[in-house]
Amino acid sequence: MKKSYFSLFVAVILAVGAVSLSARGSSSGGVSIGATIYNFGDNFMNGVVAPALKKHAKENKASLTIVDSENQQAKQNDQVDIFINKGVQVLAVNLVDPASARTVIEKAKAADTPLILYNKEPTEAGVMDIYDKVWYVGTNSAESGILQGEMIAADWKANAGWDKNGDGVMQYVMLKGEPGHPDAEARTKEAILSIKGKGIKVQELALQADPTWSTQFGNDTMAAWLTSGFGEEIEVVIANNDGMAFGAITAMESAGVSLPIYGVDALEQALQLIKEGKMNGTVLNDGKGQAHAVIDLAMNVAAGKAPTAGTDWKLETDGSKAIRVPYVAVTE
Ligand code: GAL
Ligand code: CA
Repeated sequence: MKKSYFSLFVAVILAVGAVSLSARGSSSGGVSIGATIYNFGDNFMNGVVAPALKKHAKENKASLTIVDSENQQAKQNDQVDIFINKGVQVLAVNLVDPASARTVIEKAKAADTPLILYNKEPTEAGVMDIYDKVWYVGTNSAESGILQGEMIAADWKANAGWDKNGDGVMQYVMLKGEPGHPDAEARTKEAILSIKGKGIKVQELALQADPTWSTQFGNDTMAAWLTSGFGEEIEVVIANNDGMAFGAITAMESAGVSLPIYGVDALEQALQLIKEGKMNGTVLNDGKGQAHAVIDLAMNVAAGKAPTAGTDWKLETDGSKAIRVPYVAVTE
């Protein structure tokens, strides 16, 4: 008798537990997504991409957790383990180190958890092939450099006075983003190639790179350049992103200098600076679109559907397993 009461008691406890578990599942909203951002200090990732991820997750009643990898790949690897142990249905990872994709992909594969890498494209050739449930959402990095270069070339041709020393050569300085990051590498190279492609001669006076693409770096570096031996010779400032350009603009203002300056991302503040005539151009990096694609893909793969099913996103057919959201030039 006693024994059967006990087993009834156990059965009731189990039943209540099961109900509360399923209730938790439905109230937290269906699909669970564990996301990392390489560094919450990044204006674009934190200011544009993260809010858009939250918005679209909410629209889809998904439960999204976003963690800060604090610019440490080892930390991010641990965060991925924790998400997997918690049993998230989809992982969305903004790598810290684009060369470290293999570790993250192997973890997802071992757990059979679908993985969407976003904004930092893996640099190791063939690494996307080691797992059938990994995809990439980002851009075609080269495009941003080409667009930036084209607008610089057009402005240079329209403003004869920009060639301060009248030597027919554009003396420029370059604020580069994270070395090894496909966006930083491609922007630095393609912007210059496209300026040259428009028949303009260029001379690089200085180039400095910042792994965190930060405003502080832009400020410190530009301030140092302006007081260096070649400070007076600078004719154009090119930045791989708006964040660094903002810092450079502050440094110029402090030094009482005004030079043509260009960024990438099209952050709100950049549009404002362009209106005020303090910045000359930027390139829209459609972070909202990228976030939208990440969530659309996550919903699909969590439901076992094809990644782009029922959406307008197109997967590249070149083996990169990538959705590439277009860039747009912005000069006003
Ligand atoms: C780029 C963006 C930069 C920075 C970087 C971080 O796409 O233009 O501002 O956010 O990603 O990986
Ligand atoms: Ca010149």
